[in-house]
Amino acid sequence: MAKKLWEKNIDVNPEIERFTVGKDRELDLFLAPYDVIGSIAHSAMLQSIGMLTKEEMESLHGELRNIHAVIEKGDFVIEEGVEDVHSQVELMLTRKLGDTGKKIHSGRSRNDQVLLDLKLFTRKELQDVCEAVKELFDALVEQSEKHKEVLMPGYTHLQVAMPSSFGLWFGAYAESLTDDMLFLQAAYRMCNRNPLGSAAGYGSSFPLNRTMTTELLGFDSMNYNVVYAQMGRGKCERNIAYALAGVAGTLAKMAFDACMFNSQNFGFVKLPAECTTGSSIMPHKKNPDVFELLRAKCNRLQALPTDIILIMNNLPSGYFRDLQIIKELFIPAFGEIKDCLNMATYIIKRIEVNKDILQDSRYDAMFSVEEVNRLAAEGMPFRDAYKKVGLDIEAGTFTPDKAIRHTHEGSIGNPCNKEIAALMENIFGAMDFEKSKQAEGKLLGR
Ligand code: ARG
Repeated sequence: MAKKLWEKNIDVNPEIERFTVGKDRELDLFLAPYDVIGSIAHSAMLQSIGMLTKEEMESLHGELRNIHAVIEKGDFVIEEGVEDVHSQVELMLTRKLGDTGKKIHSGRSRNDQVLLDLKLFTRKELQDVCEAVKELFDALVEQSEKHKEVLMPGYTHLQVAMPSSFGLWFGAYAESLTDDMLFLQAAYRMCNRNPLGSAAGYGSSFPLNRTMTTELLGFDSMNYNVVYAQMGRGKCERNIAYALAGVAGTLAKMAFDACMFNSQNFGFVKLPAECTTGSSIMPHKKNPDVFELLRAKCNRLQALPTDIILIMNNLPSGYFRDLQIIKELFIPAFGEIKDCLNMATYIIKRIEVNKDILQDSRYDAMFSVEEVNRLAAEGMPFRDAYKKVGLDIEAGTFTPDKAIRHTHEGSIGNPCNKEIAALMENIFGAMDFEKSKQAEGKLLGR
């Protein structure tokens, strides 16, 4: 049996095969469960329009569910000589069911099949990412609340500037994640539209029922225009990459702060010993390698949109094989960001903060603005108060009043964690992951 879907009577050159298949045999394994789910929906639709008998559809569904079980067990492979997951599944169906297996590809192309697989894969991965972001968010808010009163120096130009607090530090990263979640929500909604039925990118002469597959697969809507559906390849990945890059940006900055604040010269936070690594030569070392790796990985993730753009940028509309390469960058990014999020959550929950930082007189000057404001509130013009305090500091006669009187929204005394949590709830809570889970479960007969 020919192993290429398109093989007719010319033998395939093995070097050309190696080059064109590329990493598909590994990467398509991530798409395999979704390829099967998509085929269950597609064959149900083919039966509904008279392209398959009920018996044919049922035997296809039975076999597709068997293949799904093989995938879940981790035993599914894309064989030598088989190009991709789409070919492998069709080959398995044809081996088992003969002509019935050969009928499943009516009204579709691998172009809309891979589009669909990527959307279903990404939909699930984005759900996991959103949940992991929410867990980190919860950990940050909890730490912020717990350390609301613990003061630390705030910096501008990396020069001691004004009093800040651990409540603000943890809470800032929590609030940053609410904005990142907004992008994830947009990415999710954009992803959750059905491309199946666009076939090679120009639809089909069969009377396909795209509304039916859209509902069966639990999509919010379809990508209606078949040309646009195909144009979504690359565009969808790029937009999702922007959302992942947003999260990665927050994590990378937080990791940099954590590494710096953990240094002996700052001594603001202490990582739990189990989260540090040692040196082969310096016996005293407890290095923050986890945060350093997190920083590097998240900085690299921020290049993902650009990497994708460079592949898709100069392509006109319609399918091109260039798009296959995007999978090499896109698919592994989810494992990477989830790993980073889970690590960050683990450490943030356990990080210890130094409660006595401000006893060190080197930070006294950061109370200068408090004193200026106190004088201004008593009636002295701000500029005069500024000058007086500046001269006192230079003369060495400034004695800081370390009592903090910040009350406005989002300040040390009023970090607004409740409001920030409400923002997050508004976005995260509005995402309905159940619908897609149920739809896929139903197709698998669960
Ligand atoms: N592996 C291909 C990809 O990822 C599948 C689609 C193949 N389509 C084609 N016209 N050669 O794009």
